[in-house]
Amino acid sequence: MELGKNAIFFLSALLAAILSIFLFPALNTSTTINKWLNLKSSIKIADLVVTNAFIYTSDSSFPFAESMAIRDGRILRVGNHSSFQDLLRNGVKELNLNGKVVVPGFIDSHVHFLWGGLQMVRVQLQGVNSKEGFVKMVKEAVAEKNQGCWVLGGGWNNELWGGDLPIASWIDEITPNNPVWLSRMDGHMGLANSLALKIAGITNYTKDPTGGTVMRTSGGEPTGLLIDSAMNLLVPQIPEVSVHERRDALVRASKLALRRGVTTVVDLGRYLPGATTEDVWADFSEVYQWADSKAEMLIRVCLFFPMETWSRLQDLISKAGHIWSQWIYLGGVKAFVDGSLGSNSALFYEPYLDEPHNYGLLVTEIDSLYNMTMASDKARLQVAIHAIGDKANDMILDMYNSVASSNGNRDRRFRIEHSQHLAPSAVSRFGRQKIIASVQVHYIHYISLLASNIYICSL
Ligand SMILES: *[C@@H]1O[C@H](CO)[C@@H](O)[C@H](O)[C@H]1NC(C)=O
Ligand SMILES: *[C@@H]1O[C@H](CO)[C@@H](O)[C@H](O)[C@H]1NC(C)=O
Ligand SMILES: *[C@@H]1O[C@H](CO)[C@@H](O)[C@H](O)[C@H]1NC(C)=O
Repeated sequence: MELGKNAIFFLSALLAAILSIFLFPALNTSTTINKWLNLKSSIKIADLVVTNAFIYTSDSSFPFAESMAIRDGRILRVGNHSSFQDLLRNGVKELNLNGKVVVPGFIDSHVHFLWGGLQMVRVQLQGVNSKEGFVKMVKEAVAEKNQGCWVLGGGWNNELWGGDLPIASWIDEITPNNPVWLSRMDGHMGLANSLALKIAGITNYTKDPTGGTVMRTSGGEPTGLLIDSAMNLLVPQIPEVSVHERRDALVRASKLALRRGVTTVVDLGRYLPGATTEDVWADFSEVYQWADSKAEMLIRVCLFFPMETWSRLQDLISKAGHIWSQWIYLGGVKAFVDGSLGSNSALFYEPYLDEPHNYGLLVTEIDSLYNMTMASDKARLQVAIHAIGDKANDMILDMYNSVASSNGNRDRRFRIEHSQHLAPSAVSRFGRQKIIASVQVHYIHYISLLASNIYICSL
């Protein structure tokens, strides 16, 4: 999950939440703020006056304020202390922040929200920096499971222990009776133990599926690592997470986000190339719509759906509009063009140094990606496509250019998720073509680790 790691300010999530109520889904914040400044004092009574704060308004004509008044979760006005005396004299409750900073709620533009919430109660291998640490955490998790139950988790990063990819034999001895599946931090590969491979029927004779790799020893025996679409040989064997677990995951993830001042997330869904698109729709109806109808949403969400299902989203939006409720916004559609750097499956012009014949993978056929993008854009849906490698980014920039010229000018805000490695000529194209480079800042640290480990040949 890509939540909160970059939060610079620690601030009151509550105040951030209150501010963001006003700011979402409006895109033009300064207009919005001018609107609230114009409310003046026509409204007599407030619920709360926040005083002695350092309030950032996002409005360049009036960037900072000291106090603000709130009613029914909305900001009535902001200004200096003196202009709130009337309210305070009338007995409105005062919250003195003693100079603390207040900013509008952060919006995290790329999360896998329920997946993240589920990971929070699984084997959490983030930051583990040795084989021993890895094995120990799996051992602890198995001790709490009944025989036969799946042990799930993830977040591991082999770069933290020198680069060796984990193999089933690391954990087979301690997990003879429990199938294990542990995904890498980027979600593009995972480690199965031998029992899980057996349950999934993955043997020496299993062929690599299109868009994926079963890692093998030189003798041809699966090591336990499955990359990209090869994960689908195993993942369907894992019992579905229950509705109950997914609803709990929403609450857990929401609370974590709010603690970090994140009050809105763009959820790109529980979805990887080749996986069933139905999960995302089930999450929408069984988790988000359910929580919304029970008044249990804690955070605003903007939802993206698998691009294959664009017409279903179009139908929904044509009936209900984008604004499903004050908590749920129907965003657009998401697809993938390549894999990830850590799994050597991001698509580059040059091969990986440690695998001279590997240039990465195209995980969606480009013709069908083009057709779906064309159709989605015609339906006026926002399109977001995952691209990591320089070649993958160029392919999507070309494709977006061609779709935009066919469908004509409009404010479509095509997104490229990650935009991670760009050919020099690609950089200025984002600006020229008005494409959003949806970059995840915390990957910069992670990529620098990879790059120092000879992974990137073009550097
Ligand atoms: C608040 O006070 C500061 C400093 O006295 C002043 O510069 C600013 O214009 C005031 N803002 C408002 C909205 O009155
Ligand atoms: C799979 O390959 C390995 C290594 O070549 C070999 O030792 C093993 O017996 C093979 N297993 C089967 C079921 O053929
Ligand atoms: C894309 O659309 C064209 C024209 O409608 C069609 O001929 C072609 O078969 C489609 N390709 C794929 C892969 O869907």
